[in-house]
Amino acid sequence: MLGEVLDAFGTLHLRSFVDCTLGAAGHSAAIIEAHRELELYVGMDVDPAVHDEARARIERLLAEDSRGSSLEAYTHVRNFKYIKSVLGGVDENLLAVGVDGILMDLGMSSMQVDDSGRGFSVLSDGPLDMRMNPQASLTAEDILNSWPESEVGKILRDYGEESNWHFLQKQIVKARASVGLHSTSDLVNLVRRASGRSGGREGWIKTATRVFQALRIAVNDELQTLEDALYACFDCLSSGGRLVVISFHSLEDRIVKQTFLDMIEKPEGDDDKGEISSGPSLLATESEAETWSKNRVQGRQGIVLTKRPITPTKEEEKLNHRCRSAKLRVLQKI
Ligand SMILES: C[S@@+](CC[C@H](N)C(=O)[O-])C[C@H]1O[C@@H](n2cnc3c(N)ncnc32)[C@H](O)[C@@H]1O
Repeated sequence: MLGEVLDAFGTLHLRSFVDCTLGAAGHSAAIIEAHRELELYVGMDVDPAVHDEARARIERLLAEDSRGSSLEAYTHVRNFKYIKSVLGGVDENLLAVGVDGILMDLGMSSMQVDDSGRGFSVLSDGPLDMRMNPQASLTAEDILNSWPESEVGKILRDYGEESNWHFLQKQIVKARASVGLHSTSDLVNLVRRASGRSGGREGWIKTATRVFQALRIAVNDELQTLEDALYACFDCLSSGGRLVVISFHSLEDRIVKQTFLDMIEKPEGDDDKGEISSGPSLLATESEAETWSKNRVQGRQGIVLTKRPITPTKEEEKLNHRCRSAKLRVLQKI
């Protein structure tokens, strides 16, 4: 959703920008190129291998950039929930002034999914790992083989939204009573057997995808981390600054939607406003039309610029199958 992200920051005079989820640095590179006024750039990723690749790309970009040293750029291997300490470390005054743009593009990068050794892919064999941060101690294998049975069931039900969760829970417990589950193939085969013939290949792949999503959320504590990070990001924004979040499943999107409304302090019972009534100080051109933002929700502390989330175009979905469930939401601080 590159075009949509550029649109969301497009009209801002962006002096400072934080990419909380570097990935392949595609969004970062596009923002750096599009915003010649940028003075400070900070990129973060919790995965050191991803970070190193992204950093190399940013360095190559800056080496060819005519701005030279007028753009300060930093990258960090950090979980985005620590954005305040990262920004405080870059410049102790930054938190008081705030940053003009923050992006969170959640989920996994292609580099992580395509590396079978990370255990994220349903379709290739690898260890039951699923850690975004390889230094973290908890793996999917730990959960499946040693967490209490009821906890395993709860993860499948709440994080996978899997209707067959109870049967799968029983099968997992049965498997660990014999040889255990040690590879992604062990888990996929268990799901295949549990799914029977119903739904065919598509059926068990969908179930396995939900089971993998559930375990990944639990291993990385993704939902609590997201909620905490959204509040932290809001605190880090300057007046008129924007937070853009792309999520990839309904559990994440629900958190983004609810937390945005909570952070802007929408007055109870107040009707949603169609227009921005106050606040934005960073618009490059006040009159510039932002046609992507049709429905807004005005609060005391901010404005949700996307009452309904922005979703990928049909063309984009065709080009990039993985983006089909993406939802983009934008908030502007007053
Ligand atoms: C979808 S990719 C980002 C792609 C990126 N926007 C691009 O243009 O290439 C998501 C990235 O977020 C990182 N990530 C996930 N959870 C994180 C967290 N809690 N803190 C920091 N990075 C995280 C992942 O390691 C992954 O590299």
